[in-house]
Amino acid sequence: MKKLSILGSTGSIGTATLKVCAAHPEKFRVAGLAAGKNVRLIADQVRAFKPQLVCMASETAAAALKAALAGKKPEIVWGSNGLEKVAAMAEADMVVSAISGSAGLLPTLAAVSAGKDVALANKEALVMAGEFLIAEAARRNVRIVPVDSEHSAIAQILNSRGLDGVRRLLLTASGGPFLRYTRRQLAGVTPKQALKHPRWKMGNKVTIDSATLMNKGLEVIEARWLFGVPPEQIQVVIHPESIIHSMVEFVDGSVLAHLSEPDMKGPIAYALSCPERIADIVKPLNLASVGRLTFMEPDEKRFPALRLACGALAAGGMMPAVMNAANEIAVRSFLKKRISFSAIAKLVMRVMEAFYYRGSINLEAILWADGWARSESEKIIAKMQ
Ligand SMILES: NC(=O)c1ccc[n+]([C@@H]2O[C@H](COP(=O)([O-])OP(=O)(O)OC[C@H]3O[C@@H](n4cnc5c(N)ncnc54)[C@H](OP(=O)(O)O)[C@@H]3O)[C@@H](O)[C@H]2O)c1
Repeated sequence: MKKLSILGSTGSIGTATLKVCAAHPEKFRVAGLAAGKNVRLIADQVRAFKPQLVCMASETAAAALKAALAGKKPEIVWGSNGLEKVAAMAEADMVVSAISGSAGLLPTLAAVSAGKDVALANKEALVMAGEFLIAEAARRNVRIVPVDSEHSAIAQILNSRGLDGVRRLLLTASGGPFLRYTRRQLAGVTPKQALKHPRWKMGNKVTIDSATLMNKGLEVIEARWLFGVPPEQIQVVIHPESIIHSMVEFVDGSVLAHLSEPDMKGPIAYALSCPERIADIVKPLNLASVGRLTFMEPDEKRFPALRLACGALAAGGMMPAVMNAANEIAVRSFLKKRISFSAIAKLVMRVMEAFYYRGSINLEAILWADGWARSESEKIIAKMQ
């Protein structure tokens, strides 16, 4: 029986994780839950899974949850201290890190530092502080297991064999809803259009990132740290059908691919139970009904966010954290209709160009860079209007 703390339990990954837990009560028990402000949903989750400890983002949300629960209640905490408490709670064997955005970094780090294995969906933690997080995981002898379908695919292909004989990691990308749009069409797309992903039902931030291809850029950085490969050995391939979740090319020219129906319960269940596999998680793949699998190169002219993310990785230091923070502000501003779709990458580029730092790189400096990039982004947006 594995006991889990789930950070971001009311989100797309969090609810899919709880579906896996509900289907396999003999394998998983929920020890802790954390969410932002969706009191109604987390109250249902508390009733169904009976965790010992629950965290909400604010004191108000925590009070509302207390009021919503009758009878015996779990301990309810709130804010960043509460989140770290759920991440590090003694009763949990593994922490599912599924908060979206940079808010996931500190609790993920708290989980690793407390010696917990982490099933990691929050790619932003690795983008901001990958080197730091991986070193801490090695020091504490804990595993960071990917939940992202692409990285799960690569981990399953490598199967703990390491990188011997590996030439390249080939990350697949659906290309998002605007794969065939011209630059002119892209300039005019609305949040409603951008939130309609053709293959995956996900939270708003990652859905917009998928439409700009920033998501794939974040995943390149994630792969660099998870698998310890240099950036030039990671290539992105557009594959609109989302049946191949990623591939590994070996030195002899062989390429191994991981295929399944696109359903996040697959990589989630694998992250929770690997190397063991749980039966009947994802519906069987019928290749004849899929028919054709197609591939193409990403167009970095129409989707410059991918190039920006790769540039941030090449620049190193705190540039990925700066890029990530600027992107978060840009996505939020696009969703509030303050900037256009095309302005997302433009804003990220301007913030990256304005960043200059020569001091040492540590967690404090990374958090400072994150804050600097957010206020710089706001200044630029104010001038854009
Ligand atoms: N969705 C996917 O298919 C998918 C696939 C691969 C990777 N990922 C990654 O997984 C992460 C989560 O994605 P998602 O799609 O599940 O996002 P989502 O649906 O937006 O869910 C985000 C979760 O984080 C919680 N949250 C946000 N801010 C918080 C804070 N300050 N404190 C505590 N909880 C907070 C939200 O709570 P409330 O809703 O209660 O406010 C919600 O439970 C992202 O990093 C994403 O890139 C997602």
